[in-house]
Amino acid sequence: MDLLARARQLETEGRSVVHLEVGEPDFATATPIIDAGIAALRDQRTHYTPAVGIPELRQKIADYYQQRYGLAISASRIVITPGASGALQLVLSALLDAGDEVLLSDPGYPCNRNIAQLLAIKTRAIPVTTESAYQLNAELVDAHWHKKTRAVMVATPANPTGTLIPEQQLNALYQSVKAHHGHLIVDEIYQGLVFEADDRTALSLSDDVIVINSFSKYFGMTGWRLGWVVLPEALVECVDRMAQNLFLAPPTMSQYAALAAFSDACRSIFDQRVDEFRRRRDYLLPALRELGFKISCQPQGAFYLYADCSELTTDSFSWVQTLLEAEGVAVTPGIDFGEYRANGHVRFAYTRPIEQLEIAVDKIIKHVNCNI
Ligand SMILES: Cc1ncc(COP(=O)(O)O)c(C=O)c1O
Repeated sequence: MDLLARARQLETEGRSVVHLEVGEPDFATATPIIDAGIAALRDQRTHYTPAVGIPELRQKIADYYQQRYGLAISASRIVITPGASGALQLVLSALLDAGDEVLLSDPGYPCNRNIAQLLAIKTRAIPVTTESAYQLNAELVDAHWHKKTRAVMVATPANPTGTLIPEQQLNALYQSVKAHHGHLIVDEIYQGLVFEADDRTALSLSDDVIVINSFSKYFGMTGWRLGWVVLPEALVECVDRMAQNLFLAPPTMSQYAALAAFSDACRSIFDQRVDEFRRRRDYLLPALRELGFKISCQPQGAFYLYADCSELTTDSFSWVQTLLEAEGVAVTPGIDFGEYRANGHVRFAYTRPIEQLEIAVDKIIKHVNCNI
């Protein structure tokens, strides 16, 4: 966020900046969704909805699981939330008490540990390497489970690495969490943004896996602040009560707009965007490797490359600062995502068109050559 603020300041001073630090798609929300949002406002959809969301949207999501993943999920298990962020808060509040512990990966999405800390929940961030695709697995969970541990949180595809948890690894992880009588929370916010591997859902494992999702990334609706969580039936009432108190309701206009996101027209727009993200990855990945960044685990989804820059610097935070100041390229330092080998990593978000990525690569070449 500090880097983004500095990048914006440079832009107001007339410098041009290539933004590879932003974790949000550059594409605008698809037109059918915008039209549905405008229609919702004209129809005066401006009041609170039920705290768990409008029944039509809960049903649409249930239908989506059936059509796309072949899974029968009851709409009553689906709670609409203000983004995946709202879902994360609700799930952690509902499952864990102050002093309980949740296992996370390092590197991982930084807000998870911050939300947990806000709720006085302890986090144990487990270093992960390319050996487990930068993801937690059953062995790591078994080795780090502690008497206060109650839950494990993973994301697939993940931020900042773009890696997926292979089916067998996820299955074994689930079995391990069950054996410890804990909860498995799977953040599927980048679901659909998957290139080679099968696009799956952890809901196929069992009804007691808690799955978080969002309209932000694949559906391209970051600013509409809408997500959802699929819960075991027994947890719905508790989450409903929490949602009533924390948020009252998810945004009304956004919910009606999101009803349009499941049309064939939108699906084809989203799928073209997935193809574009794949092209960007296929350009940027070899270009960065050529420059001396090590990316030994091929990212199969989301829109991130987590690159080992230890051959270029031992202090990635200063490196990204000087890259921004000298060349106007903004990327995210490893320390945003944890502590493990953080100084030797940076994250590139390919949320800009290929022409911009080419400019960034030229500038990084210049920067690397100047600093040899
Ligand atoms: C892994 C992960 N989970 C959750 C979120 C929160 O997303 P939102 O609240 O926009 O749905 C993000 C945002 O970047 C993310 O990367």
